[in-house]
Amino acid sequence: MQKKLVISESAIRRRIAELGRQISQDFPDGGLLAVGILKGAFIFLADLVRAIDVPLEVDFIRVASYGDRTCSSGTCTMTKDLETDPAGRHILLIEDIADTGRTLDFLTKELAGRGARSVHCCVLIDKAMRRERAVSINYAGFSVPSGFLVGYGLDHAEQYRHLPAVYELLPDQQKQP
Ligand code: IMP
Ligand code: MG
Repeated sequence: MQKKLVISESAIRRRIAELGRQISQDFPDGGLLAVGILKGAFIFLADLVRAIDVPLEVDFIRVASYGDRTCSSGTCTMTKDLETDPAGRHILLIEDIADTGRTLDFLTKELAGRGARSVHCCVLIDKAMRRERAVSINYAGFSVPSGFLVGYGLDHAEQYRHLPAVYELLPDQQKQP
């Protein structure tokens, strides 16, 4: 499939440095529990936590919905839980893309229900125009209106996650007769 560069490696690097500074300023006492949403957020989390200079812990969570591998089409279920008790913790949820908002809505409510002290959402890419659930995104790297994106953790059928930048997948050119 053809692809077009949407966010370069250097743009990602610069923006993550800014996000890291902002998060460090907002939580000067640290104590954050950074929660990466698998699998898409694994590269973003790895770079983001290295740009944060206050003490934090890292954990991972995974969600899926019936009949689909993301929550966009239905009810979310957790397929891998945290190993850390979120009660009383400041949680930084780290997600690749906020699309319909179902995943973050589900997880924010789930963690608040388990007694988290606060839940903040940090996404690499905000597709705000596609939102179906009102979730507050506290930190957004980039806003992209449309298109199916791959690379830097994002996949299409498990391919492309390893690419160091973000690309839009384009439909294959029709062969001329
Ligand atoms: P939401 O629950 O609809 O916000 O779903 C967000 C999830 O859908 C993200 O974690 C991604 O895994 C997936 N997703 C949404 N848009 C894209 C995309 O353009 N490329 C790859 N995955 C996407
Ligand atoms: Mg995802």
